[in-house]
Amino acid sequence: MILQTVKHNRLLLRVPGFLFCMSLFLLSGCSEPAQYRLNLVAVHKVELANDSSFESEHQLEPIADILEAMFGTPDLPQIPPVPGIEDVLDIDKLYMAAGPYGTDEHGKAQGLYRQHCVHCHGISGDGAGPTAAILNPYPRDYRLGKFKFKSTASGSKPTHGDLKKTIENGMTGTAMPSFKLLDSDEVEALVHYVKYLSIRGEVERYLIEDGDQFAELFTAVFKDHSQLSDDEKEEIDEMSTEEIKEEQETVDAEIVYLKSQENLVENVMEFVLSKWIEADDNVLEIKPKPEMNLKELEESMANGRKLFFSKDAACSTCHGDTALGDGQTAADFYDDWTEIPGGFYDPKNPESLPEFLALGALEPRKLRPRNLRQGVYRGGRRPIDIFWRIRNGIDGSKMPAAKEVALTDEEVWNLVDFVRSALPYDQLSRPLVHKPENTKEIN
Ligand code: HEC
Ligand code: HEC
Repeated sequence: MILQTVKHNRLLLRVPGFLFCMSLFLLSGCSEPAQYRLNLVAVHKVELANDSSFESEHQLEPIADILEAMFGTPDLPQIPPVPGIEDVLDIDKLYMAAGPYGTDEHGKAQGLYRQHCVHCHGISGDGAGPTAAILNPYPRDYRLGKFKFKSTASGSKPTHGDLKKTIENGMTGTAMPSFKLLDSDEVEALVHYVKYLSIRGEVERYLIEDGDQFAELFTAVFKDHSQLSDDEKEEIDEMSTEEIKEEQETVDAEIVYLKSQENLVENVMEFVLSKWIEADDNVLEIKPKPEMNLKELEESMANGRKLFFSKDAACSTCHGDTALGDGQTAADFYDDWTEIPGGFYDPKNPESLPEFLALGALEPRKLRPRNLRQGVYRGGRRPIDIFWRIRNGIDGSKMPAAKEVALTDEEVWNLVDFVRSALPYDQLSRPLVHKPENTKEIN
């Protein structure tokens, strides 16, 4: 918001240009070009932690300028010239997905993201489009760079194929629809666009949150006295005019470095991009599921049941003795998009929540372990999908990865057989009494 005001003023200063734009706007009847929204939720999180507000001209504006120089705009995306990026992002595909919905001169679809995804995932990929607030779970905020349903190890990026599968199949049991009817090059374009928004969002967060980037610049020297925090006031009051001027020059020089190729390529992009480049190497190799006759399957399911309720696998601590998803009753059970450090909400310190909601954050909702009796799997219901979920965990959702020292591959397959083939049909173990706190609606 602050940034928008600043930009707006800047635009008005260039009056002839502004009038020209306005007349074009009136003549064409087209709407204002779409703009990315700065991640002000991340900004405010840093402000609270540092007890100091970001300053427009020396922090917010340069961050927005860097992002635009590197990634372009929602209508005209760009790929920063960084080694290796061409293996992750394809600019022609981005052009197909970006911009307003329509067709190009060859009749090829354009603006696919705005046609199909934006009302849920938002123009900046913040997961806060106009439909988002009424959905549960909320649409993904790509800017955290985390994805739940993938073939790669815990903490790794999804592969291109993982994202493609999500977009083609949708996510059963959530509002995320299937886009199987789109042409395959359209799905490809959308996969690239999701990666682009994710990388852009991660770069943005890095610039905002990392201690070596914009977060800790001493911009108090540029601020009006009324904007200073108590600590800043103390420091500034002890400085002479001369010292303030020197410090201003230091900060200006630091900003020149932060905007330099050297910083952006070697520190920022290296940090963000390397994980995307490595994704394919982090795919979990799995031996195919052993062929089984009926008796062997029964044994496998029985062993899976034992494991499910055992201490080692610990599934029931979250999914419950009932497997209805009612084992986890901790008051502070939130996903990584909600809870700090990834998110914005500190359940032990909820009084700052209204400030974040005012900046566009969605109301926190408690994370719920899945009710496994429904047999509805967001990440796919093939045995290998469930194997990946158990072995890799579900990133961002507190469901842990089962390490090989704790569960062998055979044991994971036993759990897969139990969860998939026995649990949803398992009448006898259905509890007669549900815990009252879990029968009432949560959120
Ligand atoms: C009606 C709302 C809606 C629309 C439209 C929608 N999504 Fe989603 N999407 C969701 C929801 C909700 C989730 C999160 C589900 C969850 O967390 O379990 C999600 C999650 C995702 C994920 C994350 C998958 C993961 O493994 O974490 C990707 C990628 C994605 N959507 C891409 C897209 C793309 C691309 C489009 C447009 C072609 C699109 N979505 C359209 C609601 C939507
Ligand atoms: C710390 C809590 C926790 C533990 C322990 C845990 N889970 Fe989960 N599990 C969750 C949560 C939370 C979800 C829902 C994640 C989401 O989609 O946001 C989930 C989802 C699932 C899903 C659904 C996947 C899908 O595609 O929708 C399966 C299957 C599952 N868990 C199986 C297991 C098994 C088997 C174990 C034991 C090896 C286990 N879980 C241990 C928290 C846990």
